[in-house]
Order: sequence, then structure tokens, then C-alpha cells
Amino acid sequence: MLNKDFTQSVGILIISIIAVASFSLLTWVIPDMFMKGEQVKASTAKPYSALELAGRDIYISEGCHTCHTQMVRPLPAEVARYGKATSGSDDIYEYPNLWGSERTGPDLANLGRKYSDRWHEIHLMDPRTVVPTSIMPSYPWLFEKRLNGEDIADKMKTLRVLGVPYTDDEIDRARLQVKNKTYADALISYLQSLGK
Ligand code: HEC
Repeated sequence: MLNKDFTQSVGILIISIIAVASFSLLTWVIPDMFMKGEQVKASTAKPYSALELAGRDIYISEGCHTCHTQMVRPLPAEVARYGKATSGSDDIYEYPNLWGSERTGPDLANLGRKYSDRWHEIHLMDPRTVVPTSIMPSYPWLFEKRLNGEDIADKMKTLRVLGVPYTDDEIDRARLQVKNKTYADALISYLQSLGK
């Protein structure tokens, strides 16, 4: 037979566990869901162009995010090295976000316009040409493979359902914008858009 005190203690324990476990849900997740509209208003972020969006997919499929974060923490040393700290309103059109947690290479959140397109081409072809000690892999195939643009309009339509404000006109023109561009063209156009 379980005594009454024991049953009562177990009850209190279970209620306490639920209270602690739901703390972050109540204080962070749920308010954040209602804040979305405010973040959109406060944000100066622009949706990616069709070519930048195609480049972002290449960034993900090539695994760039396994070595590079895109999230500058609000710490003086980070801001001095990587520029403006990342805030929620910067990332309202990021599906999925690429904040990451592994920094084998530098953070890229504010990379846009730090280098010329030509620098990126040389660096992607063989990083050691511009940074002799670099351990980043070379990506020569990005200069051979070309996009056919067949799925880009559907991707933009899906993002529109999630709240990215693409117009019908942008979606109609998307295919022609990316068709026949090399993977490197698209990736570099994405890299140049980062942090802007
Ligand atoms: C194995 C880890 C690794 C992977 C994967 C990787 N990088 Fe890097 N990356 C580095 C390292 C280390 C550096 C610093 C040395 C250098 O500049 O090459 C770097 C530097 C860079 C820089 C210069 C940043 C700056 O501020 O100077 C860019 C841009 C970059 N990487 C883009 C990419 C892209 C795009 C991809 C995917 C196609 C990629 N990286 C994949 C490790 C990696």
C-alpha cells in the first residue's frame, strides 16, 4: 500500500516538472509567435531574389553551413570581428535559418560586399590561391554545373505560403532569371546579399 504522503509528494513532483518544462514555452515560444508581426514591421530585410534563393539552396546542399555560422552574438569581441550582431528581425525570411553552431570557418552573417565577385570566384575555385593556409575545400564543379530553373517558381510559391511577400510578377520572371546561370553565379549572388 502506498501511503498518502508518498502519493502527495509524487503529485507535487510531477506538477513541478511540468511547470519547469513549460517555462521556456510560456516565456519565449508563445510570446514569440504573437511577436512575428512586430518583427516583420521592424525589419529592413528584403526577400531573396530568385538567383540569390537558388544560391542559398546550393550553399545548403554543398554543406557550407557545416563550417560557417550566420549568427553574430552580441558580444564585443564578436561584433568587432564579424560586424553587426544578428537580431530576430534580420532573419524573418530565412527558411530554414542558417545560424549554425560550428565555426570551422568565419561567420558569414555580414559578408555581403566585403569582397568582389571575382575574389569569391577565385576563392571558391581554390581557397589557397587567396588564403594560403586555408583548409576550406575547393569547389571547381560549381563553375561547370548550370541551373535549369525548373523548380525555382515552386520554391518561391512555397515560401510565399510561409509569409515571404513574393509578387506574382517576381515568381513569373524567376525561371528566366536563374536559367543557364552557373552554380557559382547563384552562390556568389547569395553570398553578396548576406547582411544587407
Ligand atoms: C571544412 C570547412 C569549410 C567548408 C565546408 C566551407 N568553408 Fe568557407 N571557410 C573555411 C575556412 C577555414 C575559412 C577561412 C580561410 C579562408 O578564407 O579560406 C573559410 C572562409 C570562407 C569565406 C571568406 C570569409 C571571410 O570573411 O573572409 C567565404 C566567403 C567562405 N568561406 C564561403 C564558403 C562557401 C560558400 C562554402 C560552401 C560552398 C564554404 N565556405 C565551405 C572553412 C570551410
